[in-house]
Amino acid sequence: MIDTVAVPLEGREYDVRIGQGLLGRAGAEIAPLLARPRVAIVSDETVAAKHLATLQAALRAESIDSVAMTLPAGEGTKSWPFLGQTVEWLLEQKVERRDVVIALGGGVIGDLVGFAAAVLRRGVRFVQIPTSLLAQVDSSVGGKTGINTAQGKNLVGSFHQPSRVLADIDVLDTLTPRDFRAGMGEVVKYGMLGDADFFEWLEQNAARVIDGDAEARQYAVRRSVEMKAEIVLRDETEQGDRALLNLGHTFCHALEKATGYGDRLLHGEGVAIGCALAFDLSARLGLCPQEDPSRVRALLAEADMCRDLKAIPGELPDAEALLDLMGQDKKVIDGQLRFILARRIGAAFVTSDVPREAVLDLLTEQLSQR
Ligand code: GLY
Repeated sequence: MIDTVAVPLEGREYDVRIGQGLLGRAGAEIAPLLARPRVAIVSDETVAAKHLATLQAALRAESIDSVAMTLPAGEGTKSWPFLGQTVEWLLEQKVERRDVVIALGGGVIGDLVGFAAAVLRRGVRFVQIPTSLLAQVDSSVGGKTGINTAQGKNLVGSFHQPSRVLADIDVLDTLTPRDFRAGMGEVVKYGMLGDADFFEWLEQNAARVIDGDAEARQYAVRRSVEMKAEIVLRDETEQGDRALLNLGHTFCHALEKATGYGDRLLHGEGVAIGCALAFDLSARLGLCPQEDPSRVRALLAEADMCRDLKAIPGELPDAEALLDLMGQDKKVIDGQLRFILARRIGAAFVTSDVPREAVLDLLTEQLSQR
């Protein structure tokens, strides 16, 4: 069974299709969007080795020609040089204004190719085929595209909504257990920020999701996408509510900076730790029930996910330095640190009213447990 989550943004509406075997029927899914039977695919080397042949065969089955380019895997690809290479390749392939570009890969490819599509001929349509859990539940939906620069992550980009998203649950089987668990950081985030029932469902079913139960995985992806779509509809360009999606991210971004955006800490692992810390902070400030941080940690433990600074290998800076790194977050406004805190599980809110000392105390305590 394929689920459909509609994203009815006026004039830019699209469907997110979620289910097993979608890659193998990508031709039928994409054909209705095409003005002529030809697409350009951009992927990375790791994903292409696993999935490109299946995608191209599915397109051929619907008489759709495809050309494909593969880029190196990894965050370094989300950069000016590879953006230039992608745009020029698309021009060389004579991609026209009415054509469709396909992004086959995780968050890096989705963001880069989405941005290339946004600037190519002042905007061509693109289809996201997200192959990581993180990309399926977060980055492929909502139209944030862009690249990193020397000054920071995601500082250059545009809002450019995809024309369709195909989230094939089967491709998740090809992820490493660590990558899958990291993606779960973004899944549990949705329960924590806005849906206590989904949080409870995860308390009962996280182990099934981790163990590969396709039905449980499909429900977890669908519910996450529904929540993301609801928030994007309310606030496409992040003037307000969309910031709720950054629960855990103020801590996460500082930790990612401190660990060099690499293998020591994957983004989703940082999100999971950041969510636990956001609930600690909320409880310390008397904003949420005192038992909520333990419930959050119990769920993360059930899924064998990271939940404290002690999960991060190697040296970390001290609490003051971590707080400074938070101050460099791009979501800082007028020098004020913004946090997403919670009134309870399933009820997050944005605030700049967080005493520096409370954050320092929490970080100092966490660091002392390492
Ligand atoms: N990943 C956060 C957002 O799309 O707003």
